[in-house]
Amino acid sequence: MQQGNTGGDRRRVAVIGAGPSGLYAAAALLASGEPVSVEVLDRLPAPYGLVRYGVAPDHVKMKSVIRVLQRPFDPAEVEFLGGVRIGEGGVPLDVLREHFHAVVHATGSSLDRDLAIPGEDLPGSYGSGPFVSWYCGHPDHVGLAPRLDHPGVAVVGAGNVALDVARVLARDPEEMAATDVPDPVLDVLRASAVRDVHVLIRRAPQHVRFTPAELRQIGELSDVDVLVHDDGVLAAGVPEPEDRRQRQNLDILRRWAAEPSTGGSRRIHLRFLRSPVRLEGEDRVRAVVAERNTVSADDRISATGELESFDVGVVVRAIGYRAEPVPGLPFDERTGTVPNEGGRVVRDGQRVPGAYVTGWIKRGPTGVIGTNKSDATETVAAVLADLPSLPAPAHPEPEALRATLAAHGLRPVDWTGWLRLDSEEVRRGGLRAAERVKVADMAEMLEHARGVPAR
Ligand SMILES: Cc1cc2nc3c(=O)[nH]c(=O)nc-3n(C[C@H](O)[C@H](O)[C@H](O)COP(=O)(O)OP(=O)(O)OC[C@H]3O[C@@H](n4cnc5c(N)ncnc54)[C@H](O)[C@@H]3O)c2cc1C
Ligand SMILES: NC(=O)c1ccc[n+]([C@@H]2O[C@H](COP(=O)([O-])OP(=O)(O)OC[C@H]3O[C@@H](n4cnc5c(N)ncnc54)[C@H](OP(=O)(O)O)[C@@H]3O)[C@@H](O)[C@H]2O)c1
Repeated sequence: MQQGNTGGDRRRVAVIGAGPSGLYAAAALLASGEPVSVEVLDRLPAPYGLVRYGVAPDHVKMKSVIRVLQRPFDPAEVEFLGGVRIGEGGVPLDVLREHFHAVVHATGSSLDRDLAIPGEDLPGSYGSGPFVSWYCGHPDHVGLAPRLDHPGVAVVGAGNVALDVARVLARDPEEMAATDVPDPVLDVLRASAVRDVHVLIRRAPQHVRFTPAELRQIGELSDVDVLVHDDGVLAAGVPEPEDRRQRQNLDILRRWAAEPSTGGSRRIHLRFLRSPVRLEGEDRVRAVVAERNTVSADDRISATGELESFDVGVVVRAIGYRAEPVPGLPFDERTGTVPNEGGRVVRDGQRVPGAYVTGWIKRGPTGVIGTNKSDATETVAAVLADLPSLPAPAHPEPEALRATLAAHGLRPVDWTGWLRLDSEEVRRGGLRAAERVKVADMAEMLEHARGVPAR
Protein backbone atom coordinates (compact mmCIF):
# COMPACT_ATOMS: atom_id res chain seq x y z
CA MET A 1 0.00 0.00 0.00
CA GLN A 2 1.25 3.47 -0.89
CA GLN A 3 1.78 5.35 2.37
CA GLY A 4 1.34 9.09 2.68
CA ASN A 5 4.39 10.01 4.72
CA THR A 6 7.23 7.61 4.22
CA GLY A 7 9.35 9.83 1.98
CA GLY A 8 12.84 11.35 2.09
CA ASP A 9 14.27 13.04 5.20
CA ARG A 10 11.28 12.62 7.42
CA ARG A 11 12.02 11.49 10.96
CA ARG A 12 10.87 7.94 11.52
CA VAL A 13 8.88 7.07 14.64
CA ALA A 14 7.74 3.56 15.60
CA VAL A 15 4.80 3.13 17.95
CA ILE A 16 4.76 -0.33 19.54
CA GLY A 17 1.21 -1.25 20.52
CA ALA A 18 -2.01 -0.39 18.66
CA GLY A 19 -4.11 0.12 21.80
CA PRO A 20 -5.66 3.47 22.73
CA SER A 21 -2.41 5.04 23.94
CA GLY A 22 -0.43 4.01 20.85
CA LEU A 23 -3.15 5.17 18.48
CA TYR A 24 -3.66 8.48 20.29
CA ALA A 25 0.13 8.95 20.06
CA ALA A 26 0.12 8.18 16.31
CA ALA A 27 -2.73 10.68 15.80
CA ALA A 28 -0.89 13.37 17.80
CA LEU A 29 2.30 12.85 15.80
CA LEU A 30 0.36 13.27 12.56
CA ALA A 31 -1.58 16.28 13.84
CA SER A 32 1.70 18.04 14.69
CA GLY A 33 2.28 18.77 11.00
CA GLU A 34 5.98 17.98 11.55
CA PRO A 35 7.79 15.89 8.92
CA VAL A 36 7.43 12.53 10.69
CA SER A 37 6.61 9.14 9.30
CA VAL A 38 4.81 6.86 11.76
CA GLU A 39 4.51 3.09 11.80
CA VAL A 40 2.38 1.29 14.37
CA LEU A 41 3.38 -2.28 15.20
CA ASP A 42 1.28 -4.72 17.22
CA ARG A 43 1.89 -8.33 18.13
CA LEU A 44 -1.68 -9.15 17.03
CA PRO A 45 -3.10 -8.94 13.51
CA ALA A 46 -5.96 -6.79 14.92
CA PRO A 47 -5.63 -3.26 16.34
CA TYR A 48 -7.25 -1.50 19.36
CA GLY A 49 -5.68 -3.35 22.33
CA LEU A 50 -8.02 -3.53 25.33
CA VAL A 51 -10.81 -1.74 23.48
CA ARG A 52 -11.11 -4.98 21.51
CA TYR A 53 -9.83 -7.42 24.13
CA GLY A 54 -10.79 -5.84 27.48
CA VAL A 55 -13.87 -3.61 27.19
CA ALA A 56 -16.76 -5.95 28.03
CA PRO A 57 -18.62 -7.38 25.02
CA ASP A 58 -21.94 -5.98 26.31
CA HIS A 59 -20.45 -2.45 26.40
CA VAL A 60 -21.21 -2.04 22.73
CA LYS A 61 -21.43 1.79 22.82
CA MET A 62 -18.00 2.08 24.45
CA LYS A 63 -16.46 0.31 21.47
CA SER A 64 -17.57 3.12 19.13
CA VAL A 65 -14.36 4.93 20.20
CA ILE A 66 -12.78 2.72 17.52
CA ARG A 67 -14.06 5.22 14.94
CA VAL A 68 -11.77 7.83 16.51
CA LEU A 69 -8.83 5.50 17.08
CA GLN A 70 -8.70 4.28 13.47
CA ARG A 71 -8.43 7.76 11.95
CA PRO A 72 -4.64 7.79 11.36
CA PHE A 73 -4.96 4.67 9.20
CA ASP A 74 -7.93 5.82 7.16
CA PRO A 75 -6.17 8.14 4.75
CA ALA A 76 -3.23 5.67 4.92
CA GLU A 77 -1.04 8.26 6.63
CA VAL A 78 0.19 5.78 9.21
CA GLU A 79 1.19 2.21 8.44
CA PHE A 80 -0.10 -0.72 10.51
CA LEU A 81 2.21 -3.70 10.93
CA GLY A 82 0.12 -6.35 12.68
CA GLY A 83 1.44 -9.69 13.92
CA VAL A 84 4.82 -8.20 14.84
CA ARG A 85 5.94 -8.80 18.41
CA ILE A 86 8.81 -6.68 19.67
CA GLY A 87 11.01 -8.16 22.38
CA GLU A 88 11.10 -11.70 23.72
CA GLY A 89 9.99 -14.22 21.08
CA GLY A 90 9.88 -11.51 18.41
CA VAL A 91 12.06 -8.81 16.89
CA PRO A 92 14.66 -7.64 19.45
CA LEU A 93 14.27 -4.01 20.43
CA ASP A 94 17.83 -3.06 19.41
CA VAL A 95 17.14 -4.44 15.91
CA LEU A 96 13.99 -2.31 15.63
CA ARG A 97 15.90 0.74 16.89
CA GLU A 98 18.18 0.56 13.81
CA HIS A 99 15.19 1.62 11.68
CA PHE A 100 13.75 4.54 13.66
CA HIS A 101 14.80 7.85 15.17
CA ALA A 102 12.40 7.29 18.07
CA VAL A 103 10.37 4.41 19.48
CA VAL A 104 7.20 4.97 21.54
CA HIS A 105 6.36 1.94 23.71
CA ALA A 106 2.60 1.60 24.21
CA THR A 107 2.33 -2.07 25.12
CA GLY A 108 0.05 -1.68 28.15
CA SER A 109 -0.07 -3.83 31.31
CA SER A 110 -0.83 -7.38 30.31
CA LEU A 111 0.13 -9.32 33.46
CA ASP A 112 -2.18 -9.98 36.40
CA ARG A 113 -1.28 -9.06 39.93
CA ASP A 114 -1.33 -12.05 42.30
CA LEU A 115 -3.18 -12.47 45.58
CA ALA A 116 -0.24 -14.53 46.91
CA ILE A 117 -2.50 -16.93 48.82
CA PRO A 118 -2.46 -20.76 48.96
CA GLY A 119 -4.45 -22.48 46.21
CA GLU A 120 -4.16 -19.58 43.79
CA ASP A 121 -2.73 -21.89 41.09
CA LEU A 122 -5.49 -24.50 41.26
CA PRO A 123 -7.38 -25.21 38.03
CA GLY A 124 -10.44 -22.97 37.97
CA SER A 125 -8.56 -20.00 39.47
CA TYR A 126 -7.98 -17.33 36.83
CA GLY A 127 -6.52 -13.86 36.65
CA SER A 128 -8.93 -11.39 35.06
CA GLY A 129 -6.39 -10.97 32.21
CA PRO A 130 -6.87 -14.47 30.73
CA PHE A 131 -10.53 -14.70 31.80
CA VAL A 132 -11.57 -11.43 30.14
CA SER A 133 -9.35 -12.22 27.13
CA TRP A 134 -11.20 -15.53 26.74
CA TYR A 135 -14.66 -14.01 26.57
CA CYS A 136 -13.35 -11.18 24.39
CA GLY A 137 -11.96 -13.68 21.85
CA HIS A 138 -8.21 -13.00 22.31
CA PRO A 139 -6.25 -15.59 20.30
CA ASP A 140 -3.91 -16.33 23.25
CA HIS A 141 -6.79 -17.58 25.43
CA VAL A 142 -9.08 -19.24 22.95
CA GLY A 143 -8.74 -22.59 24.77
CA LEU A 144 -9.41 -21.34 28.32
CA ALA A 145 -13.00 -22.68 28.33
CA PRO A 146 -13.71 -22.33 32.08
CA ARG A 147 -15.85 -25.05 33.63
CA LEU A 148 -18.96 -23.11 34.60
CA ASP A 149 -20.57 -26.30 35.92
CA HIS A 150 -21.00 -25.18 39.54
CA PRO A 151 -23.63 -22.66 40.74
CA GLY A 152 -21.05 -20.56 42.64
CA VAL A 153 -18.33 -18.29 41.22
CA ALA A 154 -16.18 -15.80 43.15
CA VAL A 155 -14.80 -12.58 41.72
CA VAL A 156 -12.17 -10.88 43.88
CA GLY A 157 -11.78 -7.09 43.67
CA ALA A 158 -13.79 -3.90 43.76
CA GLY A 159 -12.83 -2.24 40.51
CA ASN A 160 -14.70 -1.91 37.24
CA VAL A 161 -13.10 -5.09 35.88
CA ALA A 162 -14.62 -7.10 38.77
CA LEU A 163 -18.03 -5.62 37.88
CA ASP A 164 -17.53 -6.47 34.18
CA VAL A 165 -16.74 -10.11 34.99
CA ALA A 166 -19.64 -10.43 37.44
CA ARG A 167 -22.04 -8.90 34.90
CA VAL A 168 -20.93 -11.13 32.00
CA LEU A 169 -21.33 -14.24 34.19
CA ALA A 170 -24.75 -13.21 35.52
CA ARG A 171 -26.27 -11.83 32.32
CA ASP A 172 -28.82 -13.88 30.39
CA PRO A 173 -26.71 -15.68 27.73
CA GLU A 174 -29.31 -14.85 25.08
CA GLU A 175 -28.41 -11.18 25.62
CA MET A 176 -24.74 -12.09 25.17
CA ALA A 177 -25.67 -13.57 21.76
CA ALA A 178 -26.18 -10.00 20.54
CA THR A 179 -22.55 -9.11 21.39
CA ASP A 180 -19.27 -9.93 19.63
CA VAL A 181 -18.33 -12.96 21.78
CA PRO A 182 -17.04 -15.85 19.64
CA ASP A 183 -19.46 -18.75 19.14
CA PRO A 184 -17.53 -21.19 21.45
CA VAL A 185 -17.68 -18.58 24.28
CA LEU A 186 -21.42 -18.20 23.76
CA ASP A 187 -21.78 -22.00 23.94
CA VAL A 188 -20.01 -22.05 27.34
CA LEU A 189 -22.18 -19.17 28.64
CA ARG A 190 -25.36 -20.86 27.37
CA ALA A 191 -24.44 -24.09 29.18
CA SER A 192 -23.41 -22.22 32.36
CA ALA A 193 -24.71 -23.51 35.70
CA VAL A 194 -23.67 -20.29 37.47
CA ARG A 195 -26.40 -18.85 39.68
CA ASP A 196 -24.49 -17.02 42.46
CA VAL A 197 -21.64 -14.65 41.70
CA HIS A 198 -19.88 -13.65 44.94
CA VAL A 199 -17.90 -10.41 44.57
CA LEU A 200 -15.36 -10.35 47.43
CA ILE A 201 -14.52 -6.76 48.40
CA ARG A 202 -11.99 -6.12 51.14
CA ARG A 203 -13.30 -2.65 52.00
CA ALA A 204 -16.56 -1.25 53.40
CA PRO A 205 -19.41 0.05 51.17
CA GLN A 206 -18.44 3.71 51.76
CA HIS A 207 -14.91 3.13 50.41
CA VAL A 208 -15.34 1.34 47.10
CA ARG A 209 -14.17 3.08 43.95
CA PHE A 210 -16.43 1.59 41.29
CA THR A 211 -17.60 3.98 38.63
CA PRO A 212 -21.22 4.58 39.76
CA ALA A 213 -22.55 4.06 36.21
CA GLU A 214 -20.89 0.62 36.13
CA LEU A 215 -22.25 -0.26 39.56
CA ARG A 216 -25.76 0.81 38.58
CA GLN A 217 -25.62 -1.50 35.53
CA ILE A 218 -25.48 -4.71 37.55
CA GLY A 219 -28.79 -3.67 39.13
CA GLU A 220 -30.35 -3.32 35.69
CA LEU A 221 -29.71 -6.92 34.58
CA SER A 222 -32.91 -8.82 33.88
CA ASP A 223 -33.73 -11.72 36.19
CA VAL A 224 -30.73 -10.93 38.43
CA ASP A 225 -30.88 -9.82 42.08
CA VAL A 226 -28.06 -7.79 43.61
CA LEU A 227 -27.63 -8.60 47.29
CA VAL A 228 -25.60 -6.35 49.59
CA HIS A 229 -23.80 -8.19 52.42
CA ASP A 230 -22.26 -5.48 54.58
CA ASP A 231 -22.33 -6.87 58.14
CA GLY A 232 -24.82 -4.16 59.09
CA VAL A 233 -22.42 -1.29 58.33
CA LEU A 234 -24.97 0.65 56.27
CA ALA A 235 -27.77 0.23 58.81
CA ALA A 236 -25.47 1.49 61.58
CA GLY A 237 -24.93 4.70 59.59
CA VAL A 238 -21.72 5.84 57.95
CA PRO A 239 -20.34 9.36 57.46
CA GLU A 240 -20.99 10.80 53.98
CA PRO A 241 -17.80 10.36 51.92
CA GLU A 242 -16.26 13.55 50.53
CA ASP A 243 -15.62 11.92 47.17
CA ARG A 244 -18.60 12.36 44.80
CA ARG A 245 -18.22 8.89 43.24
CA GLN A 246 -18.13 7.25 46.65
CA ARG A 247 -21.26 9.18 47.69
CA GLN A 248 -23.07 8.03 44.55
CA ASN A 249 -21.97 4.40 45.11
CA LEU A 250 -23.22 4.60 48.67
CA ASP A 251 -26.65 5.85 47.53
CA ILE A 252 -26.95 2.94 45.10
CA LEU A 253 -25.84 0.40 47.72
CA ARG A 254 -28.22 1.77 50.36
CA ARG A 255 -31.10 1.49 47.91
CA TRP A 256 -30.24 -2.12 47.04
CA ALA A 257 -29.75 -3.04 50.70
CA ALA A 258 -33.29 -1.81 51.43
CA GLU A 259 -34.92 -3.56 48.47
CA PRO A 260 -36.42 -7.05 48.90
CA SER A 261 -35.13 -9.82 46.62
CA THR A 262 -37.24 -10.29 43.46
CA GLY A 263 -36.56 -14.03 43.32
CA GLY A 264 -34.43 -13.68 40.15
CA SER A 265 -32.81 -16.82 38.71
CA ARG A 266 -29.30 -15.46 39.26
CA ARG A 267 -27.74 -13.38 42.02
CA ILE A 268 -24.75 -11.06 42.36
CA HIS A 269 -23.66 -10.95 46.01
CA LEU A 270 -21.59 -7.89 46.92
CA ARG A 271 -19.69 -9.24 49.92
CA PHE A 272 -18.03 -6.31 51.65
CA LEU A 273 -15.24 -6.56 54.23
CA ARG A 274 -14.01 -9.94 52.97
CA SER A 275 -10.37 -10.72 52.08
CA PRO A 276 -9.65 -14.11 50.49
CA VAL A 277 -7.04 -16.06 52.44
CA ARG A 278 -6.96 -19.37 50.53
CA LEU A 279 -8.55 -21.35 47.73
CA GLU A 280 -9.44 -24.95 48.53
CA GLY A 281 -9.80 -28.05 46.37
CA GLU A 282 -7.66 -30.91 45.12
CA ASP A 283 -8.17 -31.30 41.38
CA ARG A 284 -9.78 -27.84 40.99
CA VAL A 285 -11.14 -24.94 43.02
CA ARG A 286 -14.00 -26.05 45.27
CA ALA A 287 -14.15 -23.18 47.76
CA VAL A 288 -12.73 -19.78 48.59
CA VAL A 289 -12.05 -19.00 52.24
CA ALA A 290 -12.24 -15.32 53.19
CA GLU A 291 -11.37 -13.50 56.38
CA ARG A 292 -13.84 -10.99 57.74
CA ASN A 293 -12.61 -7.41 58.19
CA THR A 294 -14.08 -4.64 60.30
CA VAL A 295 -14.08 -0.91 59.70
CA SER A 296 -13.40 1.52 62.55
CA ALA A 297 -14.97 4.93 63.12
CA ASP A 298 -11.85 6.52 61.60
CA ASP A 299 -12.22 4.37 58.46
CA ARG A 300 -9.44 1.88 59.22
CA ILE A 301 -9.92 -1.70 58.01
CA SER A 302 -8.67 -4.51 60.22
CA ALA A 303 -8.83 -8.30 60.00
CA THR A 304 -10.90 -10.17 62.62
CA GLY A 305 -9.44 -13.68 62.17
CA GLU A 306 -12.99 -14.93 61.54
CA LEU A 307 -13.17 -17.14 58.44
CA GLU A 308 -16.03 -17.82 56.07
CA SER A 309 -16.09 -20.28 53.16
CA PHE A 310 -17.96 -19.96 49.85
CA ASP A 311 -18.57 -22.99 47.61
CA VAL A 312 -17.43 -22.07 44.14
CA GLY A 313 -16.14 -23.83 41.02
CA VAL A 314 -14.31 -20.82 39.58
CA VAL A 315 -12.46 -17.85 41.09
CA VAL A 316 -11.53 -14.78 39.04
CA ARG A 317 -8.99 -12.37 40.56
CA ALA A 318 -9.71 -8.86 39.29
CA ILE A 319 -7.16 -7.05 41.44
CA GLY A 320 -5.20 -5.06 38.88
CA TYR A 321 -2.36 -5.50 36.43
CA ARG A 322 1.31 -4.77 35.78
CA ALA A 323 3.30 -4.35 32.59
CA GLU A 324 5.47 -7.03 31.03
CA PRO A 325 9.09 -5.81 31.23
CA VAL A 326 10.54 -4.87 27.83
CA PRO A 327 14.00 -6.44 27.37
CA GLY A 328 16.40 -3.54 26.83
CA LEU A 329 14.34 -1.00 28.81
CA PRO A 330 14.56 -0.24 32.54
CA PHE A 331 11.66 -1.54 34.64
CA ASP A 332 10.30 -0.64 38.05
CA GLU A 333 9.18 -3.91 39.66
CA ARG A 334 7.36 -2.06 42.42
CA THR A 335 5.01 -0.10 40.18
CA GLY A 336 5.09 -2.54 37.24
CA THR A 337 5.88 0.32 34.83
CA VAL A 338 8.83 1.70 32.83
CA PRO A 339 10.51 4.61 34.69
CA ASN A 340 10.00 7.83 32.76
CA GLU A 341 9.82 11.60 32.98
CA GLY A 342 6.79 12.89 31.09
CA GLY A 343 7.07 9.92 28.70
CA ARG A 344 10.89 10.01 28.23
CA VAL A 345 12.34 6.69 29.42
CA VAL A 346 14.84 7.19 32.23
CA ARG A 347 17.51 4.76 33.48
CA ASP A 348 19.31 5.65 36.73
CA GLY A 349 18.23 9.27 36.33
CA GLN A 350 19.56 9.50 32.74
CA ARG A 351 17.34 9.69 29.64
CA VAL A 352 17.48 6.73 27.27
CA PRO A 353 17.82 8.53 23.90
CA GLY A 354 14.97 7.89 21.46
CA ALA A 355 12.92 5.76 23.92
CA TYR A 356 9.44 6.88 25.05
CA VAL A 357 6.42 5.36 26.80
CA THR A 358 2.71 6.12 26.84
CA GLY A 359 -0.44 4.60 28.34
CA TRP A 360 -0.53 1.90 31.00
CA ILE A 361 3.14 0.94 30.62
CA LYS A 362 3.95 4.58 31.47
CA ARG A 363 1.57 5.40 34.33
CA GLY A 364 0.23 2.02 35.51
CA PRO A 365 -3.08 0.20 34.96
CA THR A 366 -5.56 2.94 35.80
CA GLY A 367 -7.78 5.25 33.85
CA VAL A 368 -10.40 5.00 31.15
CA ILE A 369 -9.77 5.03 27.40
CA GLY A 370 -9.89 8.83 27.21
CA THR A 371 -7.20 9.19 29.90
CA ASN A 372 -4.72 7.84 27.37
CA LYS A 373 -5.27 10.82 25.06
CA SER A 374 -3.78 13.47 27.32
CA ASP A 375 -1.11 10.95 28.35
CA ALA A 376 -0.14 10.41 24.68
CA THR A 377 -0.17 14.16 24.03
CA GLU A 378 2.42 14.64 26.77
CA THR A 379 4.66 11.87 25.39
CA VAL A 380 4.38 13.12 21.81
CA ALA A 381 5.34 16.64 22.89
CA ALA A 382 8.56 15.14 24.31
CA VAL A 383 9.20 13.13 21.11
CA LEU A 384 8.70 16.20 18.90
CA ALA A 385 10.95 18.35 21.07
CA ASP A 386 13.74 15.73 20.91
CA LEU A 387 13.46 14.58 17.28
CA PRO A 388 15.70 17.27 15.73
CA SER A 389 18.59 16.23 17.98
CA LEU A 390 18.15 12.45 17.83
CA PRO A 391 20.76 10.58 15.74
CA ALA A 392 19.66 9.12 12.41
CA PRO A 393 19.02 5.38 12.51
CA ALA A 394 21.36 3.01 10.66
CA HIS A 395 18.65 1.85 8.22
CA PRO A 396 16.01 4.53 7.76
CA GLU A 397 14.50 3.23 4.49
CA PRO A 398 11.04 1.66 4.91
CA GLU A 399 12.13 -1.24 2.66
CA ALA A 400 14.96 -2.05 5.10
CA LEU A 401 12.40 -2.61 7.88
CA ARG A 402 10.38 -4.93 5.64
CA ALA A 403 13.58 -6.92 4.92
CA THR A 404 14.38 -7.14 8.64
CA LEU A 405 10.88 -8.38 9.46
CA ALA A 406 11.10 -10.95 6.66
CA ALA A 407 14.49 -12.09 8.00
CA HIS A 408 12.71 -12.77 11.32
CA GLY A 409 10.14 -14.88 9.46
CA LEU A 410 7.43 -12.22 9.80
CA ARG A 411 4.85 -11.31 7.20
CA PRO A 412 2.99 -8.39 8.78
CA VAL A 413 -0.74 -7.85 8.39
CA ASP A 414 -1.27 -4.36 6.97
CA TRP A 415 -4.34 -2.15 7.38
CA THR A 416 -6.02 -3.60 4.29
CA GLY A 417 -5.46 -7.07 5.77
CA TRP A 418 -7.08 -6.02 9.06
CA LEU A 419 -10.05 -4.59 7.13
CA ARG A 420 -10.51 -7.99 5.45
CA LEU A 421 -10.61 -9.68 8.87
CA ASP A 422 -12.94 -6.93 10.12
CA SER A 423 -15.36 -7.63 7.22
CA GLU A 424 -15.40 -11.32 8.07
CA GLU A 425 -16.30 -10.52 11.69
CA VAL A 426 -19.10 -8.21 10.57
CA ARG A 427 -20.35 -10.95 8.21
CA ARG A 428 -20.40 -13.44 11.11
CA GLY A 429 -22.25 -10.87 13.23
CA GLY A 430 -25.00 -10.77 10.61
CA LEU A 431 -25.62 -14.48 11.18
CA ARG A 432 -26.31 -13.83 14.90
CA ALA A 433 -28.00 -10.40 14.86
CA ALA A 434 -24.83 -8.87 16.36
CA GLU A 435 -22.69 -6.00 15.05
CA ARG A 436 -19.81 -8.45 14.73
CA VAL A 437 -18.67 -11.83 16.02
CA LYS A 438 -14.96 -12.14 16.74
CA VAL A 439 -12.65 -14.53 14.97
CA ALA A 440 -10.49 -15.75 17.86
CA ASP A 441 -8.35 -18.50 16.36
CA MET A 442 -4.99 -17.07 15.23
CA ALA A 443 -4.69 -19.27 12.12
CA GLU A 444 -8.19 -18.24 11.05
CA MET A 445 -7.47 -14.57 11.77
CA LEU A 446 -4.43 -14.73 9.50
CA GLU A 447 -6.31 -16.59 6.77
CA HIS A 448 -8.94 -13.88 6.62
CA ALA A 449 -6.44 -11.03 6.92
CA ARG A 450 -4.42 -12.49 4.03
CA GLY A 451 -7.45 -13.13 1.88
CA VAL A 452 -6.90 -16.88 1.83
CA PRO A 453 -10.31 -18.51 1.30
CA ALA A 454 -11.70 -19.80 4.61
CA ARG A 455 -11.59 -23.59 5.11
C1 LIG B 1 -10.86 -5.71 31.37
C2 LIG B 1 -10.79 -4.22 31.07
C3 LIG B 1 -11.94 -3.54 30.68
C4 LIG B 1 -11.88 -2.17 30.42
N1 LIG B 1 -13.03 -1.53 30.07
C5 LIG B 1 -13.01 -0.21 29.85
C6 LIG B 1 -14.20 0.47 29.49
O1 LIG B 1 -15.29 -0.14 29.37
N2 LIG B 1 -14.13 1.82 29.28
C7 LIG B 1 -12.96 2.50 29.41
O2 LIG B 1 -12.93 3.74 29.18
N3 LIG B 1 -11.80 1.88 29.75
C8 LIG B 1 -11.80 0.55 29.97
N4 LIG B 1 -10.66 -0.09 30.33
C9 LIG B 1 -9.39 0.70 30.41
C10 LIG B 1 -8.75 0.88 29.00
O3 LIG B 1 -8.92 -0.31 28.26
C11 LIG B 1 -7.26 1.25 29.14
O4 LIG B 1 -7.20 2.56 29.70
C12 LIG B 1 -6.50 1.28 27.82
O5 LIG B 1 -6.78 0.19 26.98
C13 LIG B 1 -4.97 1.32 28.05
O6 LIG B 1 -4.37 1.54 26.80
P1 LIG B 1 -2.89 1.09 26.40
O7 LIG B 1 -2.74 1.50 24.98
O8 LIG B 1 -1.92 1.61 27.38
O9 LIG B 1 -2.85 -0.51 26.53
P2 LIG B 1 -3.59 -1.67 25.73
O10 LIG B 1 -4.98 -1.29 25.40
O11 LIG B 1 -3.37 -2.89 26.54
O12 LIG B 1 -2.77 -1.82 24.35
C14 LIG B 1 -1.49 -2.41 24.30
C15 LIG B 1 -1.25 -2.97 22.91
O13 LIG B 1 0.13 -3.38 22.81
C16 LIG B 1 0.21 -4.62 22.14
N5 LIG B 1 1.45 -5.28 22.58
C17 LIG B 1 1.72 -5.75 23.82
N6 LIG B 1 2.97 -6.26 23.86
C18 LIG B 1 3.50 -6.11 22.62
C19 LIG B 1 4.78 -6.43 22.05
N7 LIG B 1 5.73 -7.02 22.78
N8 LIG B 1 5.00 -6.14 20.76
C20 LIG B 1 4.03 -5.55 20.00
N9 LIG B 1 2.80 -5.22 20.50
C21 LIG B 1 2.54 -5.49 21.80
C22 LIG B 1 -1.05 -5.35 22.56
O14 LIG B 1 -1.39 -6.38 21.63
C23 LIG B 1 -2.08 -4.20 22.57
O15 LIG B 1 -2.71 -4.06 21.32
C24 LIG B 1 -10.67 -1.46 30.58
C25 LIG B 1 -9.51 -2.15 30.99
C26 LIG B 1 -9.58 -3.51 31.23
C27 LIG B 1 -8.34 -4.25 31.69
N1 LIG C 1 -16.41 0.87 32.11
C1 LIG C 1 -15.27 1.39 32.47
O1 LIG C 1 -15.12 2.59 32.47
C2 LIG C 1 -14.12 0.48 32.87
C3 LIG C 1 -14.26 -0.91 32.86
C4 LIG C 1 -13.18 -1.69 33.26
C5 LIG C 1 -12.00 -1.08 33.67
N2 LIG C 1 -11.90 0.26 33.66
C6 LIG C 1 -10.70 0.94 34.17
O2 LIG C 1 -9.54 0.15 34.03
C7 LIG C 1 -8.69 0.34 35.17
C8 LIG C 1 -8.34 -1.02 35.76
O3 LIG C 1 -9.49 -1.58 36.41
P1 LIG C 1 -9.35 -2.68 37.56
O4 LIG C 1 -10.70 -3.04 38.01
O5 LIG C 1 -8.39 -3.71 37.10
O6 LIG C 1 -8.50 -1.91 38.65
P2 LIG C 1 -8.82 -1.09 40.00
O7 LIG C 1 -9.89 -0.10 39.82
O8 LIG C 1 -7.49 -0.62 40.46
O9 LIG C 1 -9.39 -2.19 40.99
C9 LIG C 1 -8.59 -3.21 41.53
C10 LIG C 1 -9.29 -3.73 42.76
O10 LIG C 1 -8.54 -4.81 43.30
C11 LIG C 1 -8.55 -4.70 44.70
N3 LIG C 1 -7.40 -5.41 45.24
C12 LIG C 1 -6.07 -5.18 44.97
N4 LIG C 1 -5.31 -6.05 45.64
C13 LIG C 1 -6.16 -6.84 46.36
C14 LIG C 1 -5.97 -7.91 47.25
N5 LIG C 1 -4.75 -8.37 47.54
N6 LIG C 1 -7.06 -8.47 47.81
C15 LIG C 1 -8.30 -8.04 47.53
N7 LIG C 1 -8.55 -7.01 46.67
C16 LIG C 1 -7.48 -6.43 46.11
C17 LIG C 1 -8.49 -3.21 44.97
O11 LIG C 1 -9.01 -2.98 46.26
P3 LIG C 1 -8.77 -1.62 47.07
O12 LIG C 1 -9.73 -0.61 46.49
O13 LIG C 1 -9.08 -2.02 48.44
O14 LIG C 1 -7.32 -1.24 46.86
C18 LIG C 1 -9.44 -2.69 43.87
O15 LIG C 1 -10.75 -2.73 44.32
C19 LIG C 1 -9.44 1.23 36.15
O16 LIG C 1 -8.98 2.55 36.06
C20 LIG C 1 -10.86 1.12 35.67
O17 LIG C 1 -11.64 2.25 35.99
C21 LIG C 1 -12.94 1.06 33.29
